[in-house]
Parts: sequence; C-alpha cells; structure tokens
Amino acid sequence: MNNAPLSQLLTEIGRINPLQTQFLDRSLSVLSAQERTTFLQYLNYCLAQDITVEHLAKSYDLIVKDTFREQVYFRRHGQYRHQSYQEVANSVYHHPEYMNQYMHGLALSTFLWPNHLAMYRFFIETLPKQRTGRYLEVGPGHGFYFMKAMQCSQYNFYQGVDISATSVEMTQRILSCPHFNCSADYLITEADFFAWDSTQTFDCLVMAEVLEHVEQPGAFLQQLYTLANEGAHVFITTCINTPAIDHIYLYPDMQSLRQQINESGFSIKNELVIPYLGKTLEETVVDKLPINTAMVLEKR
Ligand SMILES: C[S@@+](CC[C@H](N)C(=O)[O-])C[C@H]1O[C@@H](n2cnc3c(N)ncnc32)[C@H](O)[C@@H]1O
Repeated sequence: MNNAPLSQLLTEIGRINPLQTQFLDRSLSVLSAQERTTFLQYLNYCLAQDITVEHLAKSYDLIVKDTFREQVYFRRHGQYRHQSYQEVANSVYHHPEYMNQYMHGLALSTFLWPNHLAMYRFFIETLPKQRTGRYLEVGPGHGFYFMKAMQCSQYNFYQGVDISATSVEMTQRILSCPHFNCSADYLITEADFFAWDSTQTFDCLVMAEVLEHVEQPGAFLQQLYTLANEGAHVFITTCINTPAIDHIYLYPDMQSLRQQINESGFSIKNELVIPYLGKTLEETVVDKLPINTAMVLEKR
C-alpha cells in the first residue's frame, strides 16, 4: 500500500507542532504491518471524502493542545474544568466544526497514542468474532470502532446511539463508504443514551470513552445492564485522572470505577489498565497521572 498519505500527515503535524515529531516516529514504529495498513485505509478513506491532510493534522493538533491545556488545569485545581453536560454541550457535541475536528483527531489517536492503540488492540482481541445476535455501540463518535466491529464480527444487526448529530453523521458516513465493505444491517440513532427508549436487548454492547463524559456514569452502566442479554459481551473503556475538554466525571482511582461497575450488576471478566506513558502503574497512581482502562464485563 502507498505510504504517502501517512508520511504527508506526519510531515504536516511536525510542521505545525514540531514537539510531536519524535513522539510520532516512536508511535509508528510499534504498529504491526496490519495496523499500519488499517491506518492507511482510514487515511485514504478521509482523503476520498475530501478531508485533506491539512485538516487531519489540524484535528490531531487540536486534541493534543486541548489535552495539554486541560492537564495544566487539572494539576492546578485537582478537578476537571467542567462538571455538567450543559457546560460542554454547545461548545463540543453540538458544535459541528469543533466536533468534526475533535472526532477526526480522536480517530487518528487510535494509532498515534500508545494508550489508545492498546485499548483498540484489546477491543479487537476480545470482540467475539463468530457470535450472532444484536450489537449496540453507545457513543460511536468518529465511527471507527463501529466500522471495525462490523468488519470483524458476525452479528446480524448493528445499532449505534450518539447524542451528537455530527457523530451520527460521521459514523453513517464511514459505514456507507464502499471502502470498508460494511454490508450488515445497521441503524445509527441520535439520542441521549440515558433517555433512549429501546424496545430491543443486545448480545454485544460497546461503550468506549463515554462514561467520563456523563454526569451519572453509574446510571449509564445500569442502562447498559438492562439492555444486555444473558451472556452478552460487554466492552467499555474509560479513564482515571485524565482531563479533557469534555470530561465531566472524575474517577479518582480504579477502585471507584470497579465499585460502580459492581453496583450496576456487572462483574469484570477481563481488564486492561494502562499507566501513564513512561511511568509504572505505581508511579502513575502516586502522582495522580492519567490511567486508561478497558474492560470486558459480564452480567452477574
Ligand atoms: C470521546 S467520544 C468517543 C468516541 C469513540 N467511542 C472512541 O472510543 O473513540 C464520546 C462520544 O460519546 C457521545 N456521547 C456523549 N454523551 C452521550 C450520551 N449521553 N448519549 C449518547 N452518546 C453520548 C459523544 O457525542 C461522542 O460521540
């Protein structure tokens, strides 16, 4: 496959943010051949949609700079800048230009940030490949996980629910592109998951990077529980002490998250805990640095 879009992207990111150059070279060096191909497929898809390398580089730079700014705030105040959905709704979820850049940046971070790559690998490894039934994804955002799930699994129907019209549009767009060959039945609904009135239950439920975006993640987990069939595969990711512009719920440690999961009726079947880059888990905990986690849950 032609590597040019990848080199062009890295060159453009390095041009607007030279501090990223070394970090990105290291990030690329750990990608497997298959991951590199998938990354290139995603870039080629974007280019075919008239999303330029410049736009992608700007989108990536947006989340790098936003994250840095929020980290400084968090270190100073010991809390996230915002605590309610109302504070971020109009500037993030319902702001089409911002949301579009944010979601493209986040999709790229799947391959460019080692913590996000680790969660993506865990998602693909643990996703049941042969099971049938109904798949639900809450907050598909850019749609990349949703599209990979459709490619890698055999569910009969795929449902997405997202509160942002921009995310719904981006997910629909990636799924309908012949590039990725997603031929199963699907429906992407614009709704607040908490208020979403589903008449169906599901056999695979995915909620990646959503819990920290809501005021009452415990209630979200309970809603997930209600919609899960017995034996369903349930995959979530979230984070501890990880500021971002729209993170409003702060998990201060892994224990508080595990307790909330336990209270919702799920138990943890499989867990990945990712310390801050370059630190051990112990150092990360002591210094209250960001932790990412991905989990497979099961109904008790
Ligand atoms: C940070 S993005 C995560 C995107 C993707 N799942 C990933 O892991 O990269 C969070 C997504 O959740 C959506 N979201 C936030 N609150 C939601 C809610 N109450 N109901 C449904 N979707 C929500 C946002 O619109 C956004 O698309």
